[in-house]
Amino acid sequence: MTDSPVLATRALTKVFTTGDRTLCVLNGITLSVQKGEFLTIMGPSGCGKSTLLHLLSGLERPTSGDIMIDGQSIIGLSRRRMTLLRRAKIGFIFQFFNLLPNLTVRENIALPLLIGGERPESRRAHLDALMEWVGITDRMEHFPHQLSGGEMQRVSIARALANTPAIVLADEPTGNVGTHVGEEIMRLLRACADDRGQTILLVTHNAKDAARGDRVLFLNDGVIASNYVLTGPEVNERRIFACLQELGI
Ligand SMILES: Nc1ncnc2c1ncn2[C@@H]1O[C@H](COP(=O)(O)OP(=O)(O)OP(=O)(O)O)[C@@H](O)[C@H]1O
Ligand SMILES: [Mg+2]
Repeated sequence: MTDSPVLATRALTKVFTTGDRTLCVLNGITLSVQKGEFLTIMGPSGCGKSTLLHLLSGLERPTSGDIMIDGQSIIGLSRRRMTLLRRAKIGFIFQFFNLLPNLTVRENIALPLLIGGERPESRRAHLDALMEWVGITDRMEHFPHQLSGGEMQRVSIARALANTPAIVLADEPTGNVGTHVGEEIMRLLRACADDRGQTILLVTHNAKDAARGDRVLFLNDGVIASNYVLTGPEVNERRIFACLQELGI
């Protein structure tokens, strides 16, 4: 891990307006994430964890505040430039996989390359290695409906990594898979940070998963309620539980 922030925000806010109702979901989030850091984000349902990841990936715009990727503000970027930046630097893993039903496993994983203008055939070895790494090689010609939840999440991880993004945002990737697959997914994400130098932001409700990170951040009432560096797995999990209890989460 180096000390150059790959991702940073300053006084980030997000207000949703629906009819005459306004909802201030994020109310001044300032954070800084280092290259190769594994940050986990926890907080009660509806506190804005997914919203924060959507803002960081440029999928949604903040109401105010700033977001810097590699020191560059993304706030003023046109939609097109934001899309190009996202494709180049960010991989997103969704809770509900978001695979395209009419594409095979291989085609789903190759999609980011295709969209980026690359011919997937020219990256065959890369895609094969990725499928091997996530353990989905023997399912590569299957369609999503033929896969288990765990297999779909493996495909979703491989797709998020296809462009070798510097930043991986994962929104409850273990929320819809069994414990065993969840542990395997955590092992893969940990390896992204440890072996590949990728920066991981993981949203989770699971204290055990959160304890695998380098640092945990608790969101509550629109702000960062607590933020601490983790030291050893056993101590971590207990500290995380204590923090959740203290926050009434
Ligand atoms: N597009 C939108 N328009 C209006 N309100 C929204 C929109 N998106 C999210 N919200 C609201 O913002 C709040 C935060 O939502 P968000 O999905 O970020 O929560 P979360 O922390 O990810 O929750 P969970 O743990 O249940 O996934 C919720 O009250 C939600 O209803
Ligand atoms: Mg969410």
